[in-house]
Amino acid sequence: MPPEPKPGTKVHKKTAYQPMTEPQWLVRFVFLETVAGIPGAVAGGLRHLHSIRRFKLDQGWIKTLLEESYNERMHLLTFLEMYKPGRLMRLMVFATQGIFYNTMFVGYLLSPSFCHRLVGYLEDEAVGTYTKCLDEMDKGRLPQWTDPNFKIPDIAVKYWRMPEGKQTMRDLILYIRADEASHRGVNHTLGNLDQVSDPNPFIEEHSNVSHMHLAAIKPAGLEREEVLEKYSR
Ligand SMILES: [Fe+2]
Ligand SMILES: [Fe+2]
Repeated sequence: MPPEPKPGTKVHKKTAYQPMTEPQWLVRFVFLETVAGIPGAVAGGLRHLHSIRRFKLDQGWIKTLLEESYNERMHLLTFLEMYKPGRLMRLMVFATQGIFYNTMFVGYLLSPSFCHRLVGYLEDEAVGTYTKCLDEMDKGRLPQWTDPNFKIPDIAVKYWRMPEGKQTMRDLILYIRADEASHRGVNHTLGNLDQVSDPNPFIEEHSNVSHMHLAAIKPAGLEREEVLEKYSR
């Protein structure tokens, strides 16, 4: 038997694992997505302003960056159909947006490649969060969401064009996680490129997502040589 602790010493008791409930996951997702929608808008906005101010082409980066922030906003709008933020949450989002937007704004002016790299790592965290959620679902710890009668929001079914029979909460999280994996690969790829002269390898992919998929399955993104090789052919 372990010896009795001396009187006055702090004893750290092991607490039982408390899985997060569905509303707790939604708070996390909503907060995460309000932050995730910022970098693409800042980077796309700054590149747009630079292009019209300097009368220069942008090598096609703007569309992909704005598309990313639109996609993140769709994640947010989907979760908002399931969770209504209270006053504290709104205040937190307001403050976080003010700080993060302005930090990203200055950061992107100073070093866009650093910002893309940072966003790549943040997206990796997002992939990890959604993977953990899927794991919890598979372990039966989120019964509301695995209930066969649970309906996901229509906005999500329409946006991802989710097929009949594949419209469960698990399917929805898989779609969102795939988006995050794509953002991760895209941002690491953009971080690998020359910020002024290199082309955006994903510009043609908005109608044909094959290259985006390649980035989604390469967590570190595409190497600069791979991108430039495509354009030298
Ligand atoms: Fe997201
Ligand atoms: Fe993302």
